[in-house]
Amino acid sequence: MTKQPRSSAILVTGGAGYIGSHVVLQLVEAGERVVVLDDLSTGFRDAVIGAELVVGNVGDRGLVSRLFHEHDVDTVMHFAARTIVPESVADPLRYYGNNTCATRNLLECCRDAKVKQIVFSSTAAVYGTPEGGRASEDTPTAPINPYGSSKLMSEWMLRDLAAAGGPRYVALRYFNVAGCDPEGRIGQSTKNATLLVKVACEAALGKRRHLSIFGTDYDTPDGTGVRDYIHVVDLARAHLDALKYLRNGGVSTRLNCGYGHGYSVREVLAAVGRAHGGAVPFVEEPRREGDPPSLVAVAARIRATLGWTPHHDDLDFIARTAMAWERKLD
Ligand code: UD1
Repeated sequence: MTKQPRSSAILVTGGAGYIGSHVVLQLVEAGERVVVLDDLSTGFRDAVIGAELVVGNVGDRGLVSRLFHEHDVDTVMHFAARTIVPESVADPLRYYGNNTCATRNLLECCRDAKVKQIVFSSTAAVYGTPEGGRASEDTPTAPINPYGSSKLMSEWMLRDLAAAGGPRYVALRYFNVAGCDPEGRIGQSTKNATLLVKVACEAALGKRRHLSIFGTDYDTPDGTGVRDYIHVVDLARAHLDALKYLRNGGVSTRLNCGYGHGYSVREVLAAVGRAHGGAVPFVEEPRREGDPPSLVAVAARIRATLGWTPHHDDLDFIARTAMAWERKLD
């Protein structure tokens, strides 16, 4: 049965990117009216399925105000950002400009247009290197790179604006997002990727000579870094759950998005190897600067608050869907 579209629209910034496009797909399938704003600096036009794409920048207040007005926007999902940690260290002002200043302009438009709710794409990088490698939402925030700081500053603006009567919000702090749409409609097409699962798939398929394992002497079970890998479809679902929560009057909050357990780099390579049907070529290298040994979510609150239930907590499934998409890309 086709659902009747709602009259107010949801503006999804960065909806042509990897995570944003998976959220757009689920919103459209749920019968929502979606408008995507993306400057296509890292996103792809054909990743936007079933929604109108407006090419432009979220920092452009004139454009954003016009979109709010024309489409009767009552909800914003804000993904548009730069997300590469080493790049943020090399060029911090770009990150504060793109991620923090642009968000400030977007929020001003949200306030003026009386937008009701915002779902914000935040990151586990706000925690820096927490004690014991696990972070709950009550763990003090202490980012160790400009990427994490730029996102934390955006969270603070959201918090302060909400306290001043602005939109209510949910900030979702993503751990390590991976995998692709299981139906193969969209995926991670990012150029010059740095994220482990994507790089491993490229190495398996011979698109790179090998993968570098950054650090084999960490105090972890096999000496390599441990992370909480979450399938992008489960992550996307958390955004729809957050939307429902806010529509039902939920209070503003910040929630971890992870499964609550971690895998090492070697375990990820083994899973990608199984998905590929052959080993992933790798070399061992020194630690990458700024990498915590282990970063895993304490992930109870999102389930309790949003009723979020993951369906793809399976590293092999993550690897298989990522590999299937990588094969489709030339
Ligand atoms: C970081 C951020 C995360 C952000 C993401 C996007 C932190 C703590 N986390 O994740 O919030 O969303 O970047 O840029 O800052 N690895 C290799 N070889 C590679 C690539 C990665 O060994 O070629 C290892 C890393 O050392 C790490 C793990 O794989 O142990 C995951 O790395 P990566 O996929 O780059 O993500 P994070 O750095 O954890």
